[in-house]
Amino acid sequence: MAKFMFFLSFFLFVLVLGDPAYDFVNVLDHGAIGDGLTDDSLAFDAAFTMACDSSSPSVTILVPGGSKSFLLQPMHFNGKHCRPSMIFFQIDGYIVAPSDPNAWHRCDGEKCHAWLEFQHFDGLYIQGSGTFNGQGRNWWNPSCHQDNIVCAKKPTGFVISHSNNVHLTGLNFEDSPQMHIAFEHSTRVYVSQLTIRAPAESPNTDGIHIQQSSYVSIDHTFIGTGDDCVSIGDGSSHLEITNIVCGPGHGISIGSLGKHGDKETVEYVNVRNVTFTGTQNGVRIKTWQGGKGYAKNMMFENIVSNGAKYPIIIDQYYCDHTHCKNQTSAVHISNITYKNIEGTSEKQIAVKLACSISTPCKNIIMENIDLKPASHGEANKFNETSSYCLNVRGRSNRHVYPKVPCLYIDNNL
Ligand SMILES: *[C@@H]1O[C@H](CO)[C@@H](O)[C@H](O)[C@H]1NC(C)=O
Ligand SMILES: *[C@@H]1O[C@H](CO)[C@@H](O)[C@H](O)[C@H]1NC(C)=O
Ligand SMILES: *[C@@H]1O[C@H](CO)[C@@H](O)[C@H](O)[C@H]1NC(C)=O
Ligand SMILES: *[C@@H]1O[C@H](CO)[C@@H](O)[C@H](O)[C@H]1NC(C)=O
Repeated sequence: MAKFMFFLSFFLFVLVLGDPAYDFVNVLDHGAIGDGLTDDSLAFDAAFTMACDSSSPSVTILVPGGSKSFLLQPMHFNGKHCRPSMIFFQIDGYIVAPSDPNAWHRCDGEKCHAWLEFQHFDGLYIQGSGTFNGQGRNWWNPSCHQDNIVCAKKPTGFVISHSNNVHLTGLNFEDSPQMHIAFEHSTRVYVSQLTIRAPAESPNTDGIHIQQSSYVSIDHTFIGTGDDCVSIGDGSSHLEITNIVCGPGHGISIGSLGKHGDKETVEYVNVRNVTFTGTQNGVRIKTWQGGKGYAKNMMFENIVSNGAKYPIIIDQYYCDHTHCKNQTSAVHISNITYKNIEGTSEKQIAVKLACSISTPCKNIIMENIDLKPASHGEANKFNETSSYCLNVRGRSNRHVYPKVPCLYIDNNL
């Protein structure tokens, strides 16, 4: 009996103390100071560990707003052994990285992949009115150069990898050292109402990068940075990118695919309701000579270009250095539709389709395109826009300006 009582009380002890059902965990209750100077990383770790161990089906980690600013070192949240099936981060405060690259922990020697990394979640909700500021300025500075071990690899701001059912809503992202947000090896990712900002001259600060991921939607989001607003890399499929305001930046890019002869694939990408203002490109597909794989089944629809340099571009001769040779293999490009694209182009060639000699672009379709010269720049000087075609097969309707003579007119479009 005594033995039984012992086990009973032990069991109750475990039930009450060892198996806590928290619904909310506030970082301030775990030692976070929020003065923008004190390192709050340990407090965030402790709050996350407690939330992760909660026996509630859903738990929320609170990062309160007000005038609080939380300084965080590079952090890694691993959801693999978390018990709640839904983990919320309610972020209303300001979260800031160390401003001196040399003060970033874990960024020397090895590699510093990301400032904030989330891995192995299934049911992750990161939301709120808060801001993540990656303090990229000192990383962008030319004095933070490749030959400095810390500067050699600039971290991505926010990485979500090997996760499913991820929701990212309402937050602000600023001044990342490199790309702002990356999704890798993830499925069912829902992004909406984000604001992502970095100066136009900041290098490689893409807004959102997607790779090895599928069923990703990005909706109602503002992105203005120094590189692609959205860049889509190898292994991405079933993407819905809608209601995006993009600029400054390099536009929405598929690729670059097929570097070093690699086989890379992207398919089922729909881009709708996008405005490009003062961007280098509008919608771009870029591949390297010598690659394999494909970029296919894409739709670019309801797009406005306010003076993008190159509103529509396929470039199968992509090269970011001077020594690229033309080769016989190429990433295959097919079934790409451009529909209802209007506005202005800074360059005279508003539509550039430079496809590989060995593998033509197939089934390129254009309907209702109207790209006039912008009020400044080259196209304005010529008072007209034009198109360029190399090795393209496809169709267009009669409402395409500039005319794209390599596409045959299909009266059924
Ligand atoms: C595009 O914008 C129009 C007008 O604002 C809206 O009615 C439509 O639902 C949007 N399409 C998508 C796919 O969000
Ligand atoms: C062409 O691409 C569109 C857009 O993704 C897709 O809906 C359609 O099914 C594709 N057509 C074929 C024949 O694969
Ligand atoms: C490769 O081919 C393209 C298209 O014919 C041409 O414009 C370009 O100059 C060539 N590049 C090299 C390095 O030969
Ligand atoms: C520019 O082109 C427009 C439309 O074709 C034409 O109406 C206008 O007169 C042209 N302006 C000049 C300065 O050539």
